[in-house]
Amino acid sequence: MNDAAPLLKVRELTTVFHTAEGLLRAVDGVSFAVPRGKTFALVGESGCGKTVTAFSILRLVPSPPGEILSGRVELEGQNLPDMNEEQMRSVRGARISMIFQEPMTSLNPVLTCGSQIVEAIRLHRGSPSGRARQQAIEMLAKVGIPDAAQRFREYPHQLSGGMRQRVMISMALSCGPQLLIADEPTTALDVTIQAQILDLLRQLQQQALSILLITHDLAVVAEMADAVGVMYASKMAELAGAAELFARPLHPYTHGLFRSLPRLGTKKTRLEAIGGNVPNPLAFPTGCKFHPRCPIGRNLPRCRSEEPPLREVHGGHWAACWECPGFIDAPQTTPGDEGRSQS
Ligand SMILES: Nc1ncnc2c1ncn2[C@@H]1O[C@H](COP(=O)(O)OP(=O)(O)OP(=O)(O)O)[C@@H](O)[C@H]1O
Ligand SMILES: [Mg+2]
Repeated sequence: MNDAAPLLKVRELTTVFHTAEGLLRAVDGVSFAVPRGKTFALVGESGCGKTVTAFSILRLVPSPPGEILSGRVELEGQNLPDMNEEQMRSVRGARISMIFQEPMTSLNPVLTCGSQIVEAIRLHRGSPSGRARQQAIEMLAKVGIPDAAQRFREYPHQLSGGMRQRVMISMALSCGPQLLIADEPTTALDVTIQAQILDLLRQLQQQALSILLITHDLAVVAEMADAVGVMYASKMAELAGAAELFARPLHPYTHGLFRSLPRLGTKKTRLEAIGGNVPNPLAFPTGCKFHPRCPIGRNLPRCRSEEPPLREVHGGHWAACWECPGFIDAPQTTPGDEGRSQS
């Protein structure tokens, strides 16, 4: 296996929902890659398709009404959409784990925290119960839960939000996944606890865990991400290395997001500085989906009529905007494929 190859490669992923009002394209031709041991952040306003992207990777999109129409999701070169359900079960939890925004909804309230971790360990590692119990207590201690042996016996409602999120993270890590998908892991928590969970995620980064981090919060992205994909209206609007994106944002939407960047430590979970609303996915505007809100594209005929493709405007920096400098002559490459030509 080529170590330079990304761990996960998502290519041209399209996921739809068949609704009573029509076909809803929740994720439309999205491509990105999560390199080994790195953190890739997906950002964008509510409803742009971040969670559906994560669920599509794990094949957890409810079907019906959902359907993965096309695309590839390659984990170390294996295409997950080609796997049967049994193979997929061994990917979920064992190779890719996911933690969710609100830990209470994903912990079972009638089981102790410990028994839920033991169950996860037994299922994936096949440890005998005494050994699994010991491993579970070790996991709780590892994610910074004090008195782990005591907490092991408690029920989710007996824990604070921050402790519950740690229990979720310890469950997600208990099977030694290669990739952790963290969907808004700190949004439901207050600021000090947010900082503690981010510290924990940073420790995991240092242990070379690959992370797909989904967040509204650009301050979190700035602190955590190696590379960033900015989604707008089900598509990738811009994608680049984190330092490059912050230094040289190309898409007017990304500019708008940066103007709304809250100061670190303040609680602001919604992006507010961009005028207008996220478009309804059942009635997307023609042309560039951002044009009605775009200070540049609003009045330009091309932006109103023709949707821009994603192009590599600088090496490793993609954007989908007719008006960004260099766009017209830029090649239409796919993010995640660049390692192929180098290796
Ligand atoms: N089960 C479903 N049935 C129909 N539409 C759905 C379903 N799940 C998601 N959608 C739609 O898919 C689109 C993308 O939703 P998604 O949850 O991925 O957004 P998101 O970027 O994660 O937003 P948020 O930041 O609020 O979590 C939305 O328009 C949403 O309404
Ligand atoms: Mg979401």
